[in-house]
Amino acid sequence: MVDFIGIRRVQELVADLGPAPFIAGLAREIEADYRRWGEFEKSPRHATHSSVGVIELMPACDGRQYAFKYVNGHPKNTAKGLLTVTAFGMLADVETGYPLVLSEMTLTTALRTAATSAVAARWMARAGSRVMALIGNGSQAEFQAIAFHDMLGIRELRLYDTDPAATGKLQENLARLALAGLRVVRCRSTAEAVRGADIVTTVTADKRNATILTPEMITPGMHLNAVGGDCPGKTELHADILRRPDARVVVEFAPQSRIEGEIQQLAADFPVDELTEVVTGRKPGRRNDADVTIFDSVGFALEDFSALRYLHRLHQQRRGTRTDIDLIPDLEDPKDLFSLVGGQSPARARPLPAGLTA
Ligand SMILES: NC(=O)c1ccc[n+]([C@@H]2O[C@H](COP(=O)([O-])OP(=O)(O)OC[C@H]3O[C@@H](n4cnc5c(N)ncnc54)[C@H](O)[C@@H]3O)[C@@H](O)[C@H]2O)c1
Repeated sequence: MVDFIGIRRVQELVADLGPAPFIAGLAREIEADYRRWGEFEKSPRHATHSSVGVIELMPACDGRQYAFKYVNGHPKNTAKGLLTVTAFGMLADVETGYPLVLSEMTLTTALRTAATSAVAARWMARAGSRVMALIGNGSQAEFQAIAFHDMLGIRELRLYDTDPAATGKLQENLARLALAGLRVVRCRSTAEAVRGADIVTTVTADKRNATILTPEMITPGMHLNAVGGDCPGKTELHADILRRPDARVVVEFAPQSRIEGEIQQLAADFPVDELTEVVTGRKPGRRNDADVTIFDSVGFALEDFSALRYLHRLHQQRRGTRTDIDLIPDLEDPKDLFSLVGGQSPARARPLPAGLTA
């Protein structure tokens, strides 16, 4: 039997720990895995594109465990009442190849993306950053808000979305969460939200080369957490922001980010650092308080690997809903797979209805 973690179980575990401690715990796992980068077998994800979206497979393996995630990105889905991003994934034992757990990953992707953003920002943003603009107030937004409030000490959030209803939803959810000392300001434009911010998170969904942030909005010292541009032809930053002489661009896995990230707009040899170099101290997150630091996030399979292992451990340790599924046969004789279908099944044992022959 294979463990199954459904949406209800993730809800239970997040409620049990609290959203902020859950994300902080996951962030520790992700950072620890980025530190042992060399142990992972890595590849850019496999993406299947259509005119309206993308479906991706994301594998990662550390020689002991193997994980993959199925994830889609369909920005027009919300108009049909469907999510932009949905996902599920699996963690397996390399020794036997047997799956250990099959899990929902829609909620988990939002949790791990926020955790990764906060890990990067802790190394890259100016110390004492308190004000964050949050552009794009859809599914991922609350998770980003919680992570940055808890892990970075953000105390003012400046919100903007082209869809006022999305901002209204975010405001209501943040009011219910009542994050300590957090001031939430609703803005009328991206420019207004970004003005005076220490950190700018862009997490918009649009399958095109958008320019959510333009060069005149950026001031020295800002940290940009660019989350929404994560596909070929789907970006959020004007390329001149990346070309600023004081810009420092950090990506997760350069071979994937050069295809999918903001840096797809630039030459293939544009200098970037990888997050592993920053969290191991081999490269500075920022050189000084005037650098414009940019975390060009697309989402990397290692983060899902960490998330699946973290979830599975919590699932095993904590009380609550347990479900396992008969995904893999359990045989007395492992060479007699046919025994599962060739025996006397109850249906065959019953007399056949009149007119039918065996
Ligand atoms: N980097 C990662 O690891 C990662 C992980 C998950 C999702 N994503 C990406 O993040 C994006 C957001 O995901 P989501 O699940 O929140 O999607 P969503 O559809 O729920 O929300 C996106 C929001 O962006 C808003 N928006 C679109 N264009 C805008 C603009 N020009 N200015 C301001 N707001 C705008 C939309 O109105 C919507 O409310 C997607 O593009 C998704 O692919 C990235």
